[in-house]
Amino acid sequence: MRHLIDPLDFGMQETEAVLDLADRIAANQDAYIDAAKNRKLATLFYEPSTRTRLSFEAAMLNLGGKTLGFPAADVSSASKGETIADTIRVVGRYVDIVAMRHPKEGAPLRASMFSPVPVINAGDGGHNHPSQTLIDLDTIRQRKGRLHHLTIGFCGDLKFGRPVHSLTKILTRYEGNKYVFISPEELKIPKYLEEDFLAPSHAEWYETQDLEDILPKLDVLYMTRVQKERFFNEEDYIRLKDTYTLTEDKLESAKHDMPVLHPLPRVGEISMDVDDDPRAAYFDQVQNGIFVRMALIMALLGICDPVMGKEVLLHEC
Ligand code: NCD
Repeated sequence: MRHLIDPLDFGMQETEAVLDLADRIAANQDAYIDAAKNRKLATLFYEPSTRTRLSFEAAMLNLGGKTLGFPAADVSSASKGETIADTIRVVGRYVDIVAMRHPKEGAPLRASMFSPVPVINAGDGGHNHPSQTLIDLDTIRQRKGRLHHLTIGFCGDLKFGRPVHSLTKILTRYEGNKYVFISPEELKIPKYLEEDFLAPSHAEWYETQDLEDILPKLDVLYMTRVQKERFFNEEDYIRLKDTYTLTEDKLESAKHDMPVLHPLPRVGEISMDVDDDPRAAYFDQVQNGIFVRMALIMALLGICDPVMGKEVLLHEC
């Protein structure tokens, strides 16, 4: 059985097959309305979420399936002390697939070890967020036509921001990408990204604190929120939270086709005057999120693509 816990759990071809399916779904949504009929998805969210939980649920409903779950740990038996292993062994008997978000790194991985059904990591602490990564790749591919030979700037909280970690990891599989990590000293990327992914891929990369200076060189800009919930003291959060604000004025020096991505929610790092700029791609990410998650559910459940016939994604269908 396949799960999606780490962005590298799918091979390159598998990843692109899921993105291709997402694009076919976007182009022909009516063809997929019964694809997951009689299947159920559980969303087990031990941490707050708007987009991820609701878009997984909307994705399953769009496929003709059904959903159940909980939106917070305090309304589940976790508050009584139940372990992840027991919860998944129970829920796995109610549903066909599970999307789990948890504040502890590794919790969805642990769940997958005991689960009778596929598990999707919908965000584990400051670690990974692989379904967001598929959405980010899909959006970059749409905007730039490729995932290689790009100079990508990541800006903001690069220490705790899990979408940054997962996207960096997967982009190092593609040739010729360069990375600029723009953050305050305290919020630099974790060492493992450098040692386990950037160095072995021989990618060119560097760190800076200056967003404006680097903007004209970027092909893609990925903005992030300072992750308040992962700080140990409020003082540091308050000091760092407004380090960067992207405005329409600042974008003047950037390339005319440099998409601005953000996983959302934003809390001040992109001013609203950027929203009408054609480079703003963050609401495209939201839209793509539905189609990518529909494709992901189909892939993990081994559902045939009704448009392509016996299209094999992760399993024989
Ligand atoms: C992100 C997350 O939860 O990691 N949001 C999301 O899923 N779209 C980013 C964030 O919370 O800052």
